[in-house]
Amino acid sequence: MSLKSEQTSAHGGVPETTAPYQPVFVGAARAELERLRPSYPTMQALLLPALWIIQRERGWISEAAMAEAGEVLKLTPAYVKGVVTFYTMYHTHPVGRHFIQVCTTSPCSICGSEETLAAILRYTGCGELGATSSDGRFTVIEVECLGACGFVTPIMVDDDFIESVTPERVPDILARYP
Ligand code: FES
Repeated sequence: MSLKSEQTSAHGGVPETTAPYQPVFVGAARAELERLRPSYPTMQALLLPALWIIQRERGWISEAAMAEAGEVLKLTPAYVKGVVTFYTMYHTHPVGRHFIQVCTTSPCSICGSEETLAAILRYTGCGELGATSSDGRFTVIEVECLGACGFVTPIMVDDDFIESVTPERVPDILARYP
């Protein structure tokens, strides 16, 4: 594939760099993808784990990485981008070491999730949704129903699902994520 530059934007304090794009699907990552291939009926289906591999290796999925996935799986760039941008779990910009998702949909909102979200933004120093803290530690976003409406406020920190988070519990919980 062509070597395009990959730009890391100045999103939320992450330093801006421009470096030649290094393909993800070489060596062990390519072998992993080939091992997965027989388990998926179509290239469209295989795209989902391919994107997880990219995100695991790079932390986010750049335009150049989307182009590489399209080339490897013989899918159009528009299709790949459509999938990446449909799911909130795929990152289209650099994020902090810990990615926090907070439910603020109506049932949680009326039970106080906005106060919890505000406490998380204060504790992390992110300041606003989608921004990354200046130390690169956290990125916070709000999401739709996490399926735990009876346990307000539910949040996800990376792959950890945590229920009944209150503003008072925020420091203790987030201290576990250095
Ligand atoms: S509305 Fe928040 S978990 Fe369902």
